Amino acid sequence: MKKIVVLSGSIREGRKSHFVAQEIYGILTSQAHVEATLLDLKSYPFPIMEKRMNQMDELPDGMQLFSDTLFQAQGIVIVSPEYKNGMPGALKNALDYLNPQIFKRIPLAIVTVSSGGFGGLFCLSQLRGIGLALGGVPIPEKLCISKVNELFDDNGEVLQESFKTKSSDLINSFLWYVDRLSS
Ligand SMILES: Cc1cc2nc3c(=O)[nH]c(=O)nc-3n(C[C@H](O)[C@H](O)[C@H](O)COP(=O)(O)O)c2cc1C
Repeated sequence: MKKIVVLSGSIREGRKSHFVAQEIYGILTSQAHVEATLLDLKSYPFPIMEKRMNQMDELPDGMQLFSDTLFQAQGIVIVSPEYKNGMPGALKNALDYLNPQIFKRIPLAIVTVSSGGFGGLFCLSQLRGIGLALGGVPIPEKLCISKVNELFDDNGEVLQESFKTKSSDLINSFLWYVDRLSS
């Protein structure tokens, strides 16, 4: 079994990116050889980082679990909204706590979500750089979702079948890297 974590990076009230994360998680749970975890940043309201976790005497609530869940993964999918041409501060803050190289040699698939027409390309670029800084291996394939408001109804039901196809294609590519980079 391959342990895969989907990190859902939006904590906004009324967030749409979490629908995307849930869809990706659903695709992963349907794979026979995958043990998937949905790691929802909204469940981890960390304070603004003043020290990295390896320099803290007492960790914020949930920090050890958050870090362990990511550390134990053999592949990580990060789903992030684009805010002001970049990634959300809450997601960057959480990642800043983590120990150096925590993602060492772990494939990372990046999914970005925007309500505009450009699919979160700035955010994609930032997350790839941050993934590298954490020792991870961002894969070339990506999913950049534009006009997310047209993609789901209010209950999170997918309105466009092409989204499911694109998501499955990304996950198939991603699992190729996971199989080759993990034992
Ligand atoms: C503070 C803030 C900044 C945003 N900046 C951008 C942006 O630069 N480009 C863009 O396409 N959408 C932007 N959006 C819209 C988000 O893409 C939109 O909220 C989308 O639904 C994905 O994020 P969500 O998970 O918060 O719903 C912004 C939204 C917020 C709340």
